[in-house]
Amino acid sequence: MKAYVVEAFGPPEAIAFQDVAVGELPKGHVRLRVRASGASLLDALIAAGRYQVKPPLPFSPGSEFAGEIEAVAADVTTLKVGQRVMAGGFTGGFSQTAVVPAIAAVPIPDAMSFETAAGFHTNYMTALHAFRQRAELKAGETLLVLGAGGGVGSAGIEVAKIMGARVIAAASSEEKRAFATKLGADHAIDIAPEVFRDRLKEITGGRGVDVVYDPVGGQLTELAFRSLAWRGRHLVVGFAAGTIPALPVNLALLKGAALVGVDLARFSFMHEPAVAAENLKQLLAWFASGQLKPQVGRVYAFSEAREALSDILNRRAVGKAVVRVD
Ligand SMILES: NC(=O)c1ccc[n+]([C@@H]2O[C@H](COP(=O)([O-])OP(=O)(O)OC[C@H]3O[C@@H](n4cnc5c(N)ncnc54)[C@H](OP(=O)(O)O)[C@@H]3O)[C@@H](O)[C@H]2O)c1
Repeated sequence: MKAYVVEAFGPPEAIAFQDVAVGELPKGHVRLRVRASGASLLDALIAAGRYQVKPPLPFSPGSEFAGEIEAVAADVTTLKVGQRVMAGGFTGGFSQTAVVPAIAAVPIPDAMSFETAAGFHTNYMTALHAFRQRAELKAGETLLVLGAGGGVGSAGIEVAKIMGARVIAAASSEEKRAFATKLGADHAIDIAPEVFRDRLKEITGGRGVDVVYDPVGGQLTELAFRSLAWRGRHLVVGFAAGTIPALPVNLALLKGAALVGVDLARFSFMHEPAVAAENLKQLLAWFASGQLKPQVGRVYAFSEAREALSDILNRRAVGKAVVRVD
């Protein structure tokens, strides 16, 4: 089978494309025929060796994917060959087949395309966990979404709208702001520091926002925190800008505000798996009822997988990038 392979940590252009032998299926695992793989900043950072998790070399990038099960280990009774599933880990998606623990493969509804499923789990689960368990977002509250044109941010807009929030989307380009508006954002604003806080004041009538959803970090974090309303919550989700910001803590005191961490992996797999399972059930119910209509960004051909990672690293990607694996 064909796969993209990181032989040495480096930029997307250095990722090899080669024939790889299909290995034995370990106990408790299933093998998928991958049909689509999400592409994210995480994948680009892992391939570059710039993420805290460094998989042993060589490996195939792609932390989230969807496909059909083509083989199950003899001891797996919960899944069967032919079933459509989404799955993930840190690696493996940019490959025609992937081996995952059976417990990590989640059946997907017939109505969900492989492209949608490939980008579904991480982004929507992060948003729902952040809003429901961490910020306790209420209908009618105002939410500021940073990085609104990216994968995490765009899913945040869709989930927050279902929960009844008023959404202000912040993004660097007109194209990203238009995408955010299409997803239902009530306002879309530029992140340029000279206009950012004034626009927020204008939109909220000087009151500030109740919740900030922040997958970006860098200099935007403090500007957003300073724009919180009384009893505001600032959700720390990620650091796409590459810098972990520092914050003068007196700002929290002055606003009765909270800085709240969000970590989907620790929440789902270490601390609260039962609550995470309920969240996934809720998302799939919203999908089934048509309330959640997940939007993907550009769908890249398998031959364009490196370009997908490069677009993400260069802030060109709009929405969730997906690679079709054929
Ligand atoms: N905490 C969790 O559980 C969790 C779960 C999933 C992801 N994450 C993290 O969330 C972050 C965002 O992930 P994502 O998949 O949404 O990424 P993405 O699709 O690439 O979007 C990130 C956005 O960040 C902004 N950005 C600012 N500086 C950037 C830079 N130097 N390089 C790239 N983007 C930059 C861009 O928006 P503008 O151009 O508008 O500035 C971009 O659209 C990552 O750090 C990821 O690891 C955390």
